[in-house]
Amino acid sequence: MRVVPFKFEANTFWLLDQRQLPLEEAWVACHTAVDAADGIHDMVVRGAPAIGVTAAYGMVLAHLSGENPTEADQVLRKSRPTAVNLFYALDRMKPHWGDLEGSLREARAIWDEVEQTELAISQNGARVLKGQVLTHCNTGPLATGGYGTALGAIIEAHRQGRVSHVWVDETRPYLQGARLTAYELQKVGVPATLITDNMAAYFMSKGQVDAVILGTDRMALNGDFANKIGTYGVAVLAHYHEIPFYPALPLSSVDPRLETGEAIPIEERSGLEVTTVHGIPMAPEGFPAAHPAFDVTSHALVTGIVTEKGVLYPPFDESLRLAMGLLD
Ligand code: MRU
Repeated sequence: MRVVPFKFEANTFWLLDQRQLPLEEAWVACHTAVDAADGIHDMVVRGAPAIGVTAAYGMVLAHLSGENPTEADQVLRKSRPTAVNLFYALDRMKPHWGDLEGSLREARAIWDEVEQTELAISQNGARVLKGQVLTHCNTGPLATGGYGTALGAIIEAHRQGRVSHVWVDETRPYLQGARLTAYELQKVGVPATLITDNMAAYFMSKGQVDAVILGTDRMALNGDFANKIGTYGVAVLAHYHEIPFYPALPLSSVDPRLETGEAIPIEERSGLEVTTVHGIPMAPEGFPAAHPAFDVTSHALVTGIVTEKGVLYPPFDESLRLAMGLLD
């Protein structure tokens, strides 16, 4: 069964605490925009589309709790920097400031659109997948509130008998692959094997990876895209081994203000997430550790971009603009 990362009940927005998964299914109540921003910042909820929906409901909560909309919008905008869906959702909520009914309708519409676009992304992505696929990070229902993007396509391709097995990168340091993707694939019964990130090259070299599909936090108009740290390495490996490589995303994850990926802001997270796992030290105490949470992959390494409008092919600066209605 599909898992849900949030629910709106009795004027409260509930977040499934993804920090506790897969060990425990606990829910966190959000009554205010500040609660929703904390939930995003603290990774109770994560994944680009899910962050967008949470921010939209954060603005609904601002109305319900009497918070100042300008301040609520600002606190939500500061919760995480990389996924453009956060800013996309908040921009859509702005015309409804001061109108509870309107803001509720818009937040629900943003959530509904996540579901609708992901049905199409899953169908479109399934067509280009076969055999054994590798994925990085988590792009399933937990990351979106819908059917999932890359993981939605994998699940659909398995349902159609096209995909037989999934290699799940554990996704150091935050372990979204090990904790969340493994949890979701196990729930839906798709055969999968967890590997550490540094094993991907080995299985590719043995001819055991037929395609790579993964998510996107923000894409530029030329097809460069930011995704979970380690994505760039997987793309280079796929290119070397001549394995098709597909980012999957709703077109709302494309930032129309960016021509290239150079200016995408990259979140820097605490080094403690590198030196410890679940609070257990893995390195000498106080040892410096870097933690950029995302990297940018060049469009030159991309075979095709899986969207709700179909799979787009190079030149991406044309095919993306066409799909987004920015060209005649
Ligand atoms: O730091 P996270 O867990 O929010 O990062 C998530 C990712 O990088 C996903 O691949 C991306 O948001 C796409 S989700 C469909």
